[in-house]
Amino acid sequence: MVFSHRGHVVTIAERNVARLGSLRRGVSPISETGLEEMLRDGIAAGRIHAVETAAEAVASAEFIFLCVETPQAPDGSADLSFMIAAAEEIATNLALGAIVVNKSTVPLGTVELIEKVIGRSDVTVVSNPEFLREGTAIADSLHPDRIVVGARNREIASRVANLYSDTGAPVVITDATTSELIKYASNAFLATKLTFINTMAGLCDAVGADVLDLVQGVGRDKRIGFEFMKPGPGWGGSCLPKDISALLNIAKSVSFDADIVEAAISGNERQMELVVNKIRVAAGGTLERRSVGILGLTFKANTGDRRYSPAVSITQRLAQQGASINAYDPTVIRMDSGSVDLAHLETYDDPYQAITGTDVVAILTEWPEFRDLDFARMRELVSNPAIVDARNLLEPGPIRDLGFSYTGIGRK
Ligand code: UGA
Repeated sequence: MVFSHRGHVVTIAERNVARLGSLRRGVSPISETGLEEMLRDGIAAGRIHAVETAAEAVASAEFIFLCVETPQAPDGSADLSFMIAAAEEIATNLALGAIVVNKSTVPLGTVELIEKVIGRSDVTVVSNPEFLREGTAIADSLHPDRIVVGARNREIASRVANLYSDTGAPVVITDATTSELIKYASNAFLATKLTFINTMAGLCDAVGADVLDLVQGVGRDKRIGFEFMKPGPGWGGSCLPKDISALLNIAKSVSFDADIVEAAISGNERQMELVVNKIRVAAGGTLERRSVGILGLTFKANTGDRRYSPAVSITQRLAQQGASINAYDPTVIRMDSGSVDLAHLETYDDPYQAITGTDVVAILTEWPEFRDLDFARMRELVSNPAIVDARNLLEPGPIRDLGFSYTGIGRK
């Protein structure tokens, strides 16, 4: 959509018939601010077309972007079967001298592998990793921090980088392996930074310091900054956990000791356990036959995504320890209770219903609307007035004034 917005003619191949239909009608199959408007504008201007087969989409294209899923295989590595299938499908239909650009997050060496699968000396495969976040995908794509392109041919890499010239973003041109590693290193760094700040929050709890003030004091050092410095219940989503595990596998495959990466992963597990422990303490020292009201199930706010969500993982741990769970999330409707990842809990369409009769309320996703809940009303509805705020979303003072016990992450 963003390429079309920049004036390019874009053909989308979508083999899922329902999604193809909605694309053609100008209805975005995923929810991202500004995405649908761009889709409609592109269709109206005749710059976006959606077709059923990849072969059809690539026939006259100069650049072909591979944006297929690379899910985590059971051994932690990335499953490339969708990517290989796409490469096989387009191989004979590519125009002479076409440039195939890989946007998906892939193991090192995938560019070479896809070149082999395509098997044409006139076609070049290029790595061009994507750094956008869910929920702010359009803004991130319009204003990227950098453009990374990796290829064996610099001139071809520059042609790909030129597609982004209007963004004014700095360009890093390198070889394909380094480019592929940049993607993993970026997400692994972000995850490690979060484990670090979560560890500092735990230390603040232990010594009676305040992590929010600590972040103010530390983050003003420009070399450290304030981004990715909010302590929480652990990091999740479809990218950070998958990519940091993949990076660890890469290191292991060459017998390289990436112990900092291992520590970031184990620290994240510990963080989720720590939140479970805070909830157990707030519930009176046991979770056996306790009722927990959960606010927030998605892996972060402003997305409907629950993949590798710390919130879901925490509720599973609570249920395993004997708690019954009632949950509310603005993106989960009651009938979603049938979803496999939510089989251990009851969902509600209303936050007040979800917390009624519970022994402890836990905020696990930082939805801004949770700040505006009527906590005085909640005080009347709960069995035991205890709040665990795993996102440090609330001001402890006014909550305590209402008679709740308040437990944050690294806050007094
Ligand atoms: C992440 C990266 O931020 C993007 O740069 C990257 O392009 C993307 O993965 C990807 O590889 O596709 P995303 O998965 O959308 O983006 O999620 P983030 O916004 O990075 O959040 C990840 C997790 O960290 C969430 O669970 C979030 O709640 C947590 N987080 C984030 C915190 O706990 N504290 C923070 O200060 C920031």
